[in-house]
Amino acid sequence: MGSLFSSSITLRKSVKISDDEFVQLRDFIYEKSGIFVDIKRKYLFESRFSKRLAQLSLSSFADYIKYLKFGPNKNDELKKLYELVTTNETSLFRDIKQLDAFRDNVLKEKLDQQRKAGKLELNIWSAGCSSGEEPYTLSILIHEVLRMEIARWKINITAVDLSQPMIDKAKKGVYGDYSFKTTPDDIKKRYFTEAPDGWKIKPAVTKPITFQQMNLNDGLALKRIARSHIIFCRNVIIYFDENMKKKVVNSFYDNLLPDGYLMLGHSETLHKVSQSFKPIFHPGTIAYKKEG
Ligand SMILES: C[S@@+](CC[C@H](N)C(=O)[O-])C[C@H]1O[C@@H](n2cnc3c(N)ncnc32)[C@H](O)[C@@H]1O
Repeated sequence: MGSLFSSSITLRKSVKISDDEFVQLRDFIYEKSGIFVDIKRKYLFESRFSKRLAQLSLSSFADYIKYLKFGPNKNDELKKLYELVTTNETSLFRDIKQLDAFRDNVLKEKLDQQRKAGKLELNIWSAGCSSGEEPYTLSILIHEVLRMEIARWKINITAVDLSQPMIDKAKKGVYGDYSFKTTPDDIKKRYFTEAPDGWKIKPAVTKPITFQQMNLNDGLALKRIARSHIIFCRNVIIYFDENMKKKVVNSFYDNLLPDGYLMLGHSETLHKVSQSFKPIFHPGTIAYKKEG
């Protein structure tokens, strides 16, 4: 382990950002991704971007903003920017109470409904899937519920995220201990195999999932997603302002099939965002239902 003074550690002074530069950069990020950064978190820009500025040999945020807007590699730089501004915290079986309610109520209702209609098909959208733990968890839960019957079903899980490196990691499907912190042991053993760099998800679980890079601020791209029975968008809209929350939730409403469900993160709510959903209360969670 390297010590604090080991030669591999370079002490880098963070580049200071003025209020004006902060507002310009914040507005640019907001315009592109809908992510809104409060001025109170200005220090975050300084700590997160200093390394990138050094890599580009830029000494000020003003120069970085010019590079982002007009530089020859502005499209590639935008992807780097997304990596710097997103928080990708996630894990398998995150929020067990919500997942129990999902399995025993929302999923059960949808499966029963589809069986009755004679359509053994279920579409789920994981919006803001980070490195894939959420869609894999959903696929595992569906396998647990359907067991052998799954062979007769057409399950589609569309998993999207703004960050391409997160999508690449998701496609690999290899996870370390941190990702398993709330995963039951028997699930880990049944659905993962040991790999040199962690635990790899089994192919049966990946089969229903399609991963793709997508920006939830891109209304046209969202329209191309197949209509869903259930949407998971957990711990994503907390990074948006009210306007963007409304825009994204409206897109979810349009995408959902009648009686479809929207599942948000435990600290997120549709209060002041949309009145088009009926909140259905379950122990430890709320499922938002599109009625009619
Ligand atoms: C905190 S993670 C949540 C991951 C997972 N849903 C969960 O709850 O464990 C938030 C994710 O939302 C993604 N995100 C943020 N803004 C986005 C946008 N405009 N379009 C698509 N994904 C976005 C981030 O890249 C990040 O991976």
